Amino acid sequence: MKGIVLAGGTGSRLFPLTKITNKHLLPIFDKPMIFYPIETLVAAGIRDILLVTGGRNSGDFLRLLANGKEFGLKHLNYTYQEGEGGIADALALAEHFADGEKICVILGDNIIEGSIGAAVEEFEEQEHGARILLKEVHDAERFGVADLRGDRIAGIEEKPRNPKSNYAVTGIYMYDGTVFDKVKRLAPSGRGELEITDVNNAYIAEGTMTFSFLDGWWTDAGTFESLLRAANLVAHSRRSRPAGA
Ligand code: DAU
Repeated sequence: MKGIVLAGGTGSRLFPLTKITNKHLLPIFDKPMIFYPIETLVAAGIRDILLVTGGRNSGDFLRLLANGKEFGLKHLNYTYQEGEGGIADALALAEHFADGEKICVILGDNIIEGSIGAAVEEFEEQEHGARILLKEVHDAERFGVADLRGDRIAGIEEKPRNPKSNYAVTGIYMYDGTVFDKVKRLAPSGRGELEITDVNNAYIAEGTMTFSFLDGWWTDAGTFESLLRAANLVAHSRRSRPAGA
């Protein structure tokens, strides 16, 4: 399976930290933010990776990551998102790279404790459709929220005022080759973006969406509070599991 890390956008919620650099280059404890999603993909056995960047500091990603040797990669692919048209707009840039294959997409500000290896394997076995990873949270209104009916997912609402469950849709998505046609059919949302939640709802409507629950902690890092939380979670894990262990 091919992997795609989405690291476009302007990081306006972190201004002025993002005035002179890209959000995904900010530190999370002892590493730049962008290291974590790349490591998540590599740990799941994904070696063919595309990084979508944007903004004024995109050249810094090349200087930092080069060909991905630090992650055990021989090569790293890059592309550039003009403007910030939303997560699905950034994903659309990966169509050529994906070349009809299944893909695993991870948002550049999503940091996890555990592994997505089992979910990736399950999706390899899945004939077609999509798979998302859910996590129980106490502040569901900040995220895409799953409407669960038993073992079925009936829909996803983006940042609902009154969430139908406590299960957030994490920024880790697996798609078959039809995802790009679904993106092409999207219209911009109220916030003027092509929403990944609309892509996921298209799979739910055709009955091909599956899901699993993510083990271990999960956080985004796009606000001051979550940036600090991410650093604390990583620091705490390092202390309880020293590097290399
Ligand atoms: O973190 C999980 C959540 O991420 C999901 O629960 C939501 O359903 C999903 O919409 C998203 O919510 P956010 O509003 O937090 O996404 P944000 O705009 O912060 O963007 C997250 C990442 O996506 C960002 O770090 C880089 C990438 N991105 C975002 C935009 C808007 C792009 O590559 N290009 C973009 O234009």
